[in-house]
Amino acid sequence: MYEISGLTKIYQGKGKNEKVHALQGVDVVIPDNDMLAIQGPTGHGKSTLLQLLGGLDRPTGGSLKFDGQEMAKMGEMSLTKLRAQNFGYIFQGFNLIPTLTAQENVETALVPLGVSKVERRERAAKALTDVGLGERLGHLQTELSGGQQQRVAIARALVKEPKVILADEPTGNLDEETRDDIFGLLEKLWADLGLTVIMVTHDSALSKRVPRLAQIKNGKLTIKRERAGATGV
Ligand SMILES: Nc1ncnc2c1ncn2[C@@H]1O[C@H](COP(=O)(O)OP(=O)(O)O)[C@@H](O)[C@H]1O
Ligand SMILES: [Mg+2]
Repeated sequence: MYEISGLTKIYQGKGKNEKVHALQGVDVVIPDNDMLAIQGPTGHGKSTLLQLLGGLDRPTGGSLKFDGQEMAKMGEMSLTKLRAQNFGYIFQGFNLIPTLTAQENVETALVPLGVSKVERRERAAKALTDVGLGERLGHLQTELSGGQQQRVAIARALVKEPKVILADEPTGNLDEETRDDIFGLLEKLWADLGLTVIMVTHDSALSKRVPRLAQIKNGKLTIKRERAGATGV
C-alpha cells in the first residue's frame, strides 16, 4: 500500500534559474490490489509520479510511504532492494535489450535479486509461458511483433513476483486490437495474482474499464472515479 501526502517534485529547467514544478502536492492512498489508471495532458506530471512510486527518482518534498516505509528518506541500498523486490515496470517503448533473446531479457530482472543462473532460466521460461510466449523464448526483439514485445516486457516485470506493476502508457505504441489484448492480460494478472497495478494511459476506452481512475493536471492528482463497492474512501 502507498500512502502519499504533499508529494512534490521540482526539476531543474533548461535555464540556470528555471525550475519545473512537475508535482505540486499529491495526496493519495493506493491500497493493495488496487488497479488505478492515471490520465492527464502531456507534461502534467504522470510519468514523474510513476517514477517516484517506483523509486526510480526521489521526491523534492512530501511523504511517499510504501508498506509503511518512507521512500523519500531511504538510503540508496535499501531503495535498490525495495525496487528489485517489489516493483515491476512496463514502458511504452518496451525497453527490451535488442541483442538479448526474450528469455534473456526476462532473466535480467532477476540478476539484482541474486537468483542463480539455473533458476533465472526456469523462472523466465515460466513467466514467458504465463504471458503466452512459451514458444518464443529464443526470439530476438526484431523477430517479435509489438504486442509480443510488450508481452516480453510484462514477463520481465512479473518474473520477480513484484507486489506492484507500474505501467507508463503500456499500450501507447500498439494498434487497437493489440491494445485490447495487452490490457486484457494486465487485467488477468491483476485478478489472478492479487497485484497492485498503476497505469498511465491516454486511452479512454481502457480507462473506462479500470476499477479506479485518477487525473493529473498541473502536478495535482484528483480521483475521478472510485472502485465500485469500495467503502470508506
Ligand atoms: N528529468 C527531467 N528534467 C527536467 N524536467 C523534466 C524531467 N522530466 C520531466 N520534466 C518536466 O516535468 C514536467 C512533467 O513531465 P512528465 O511527468 O514526463 O509528464 P507526463 O508524463 O504527464 O507527460 C514536464 O514539464 C517535463 O518537461
Ligand atoms: Mg509521460
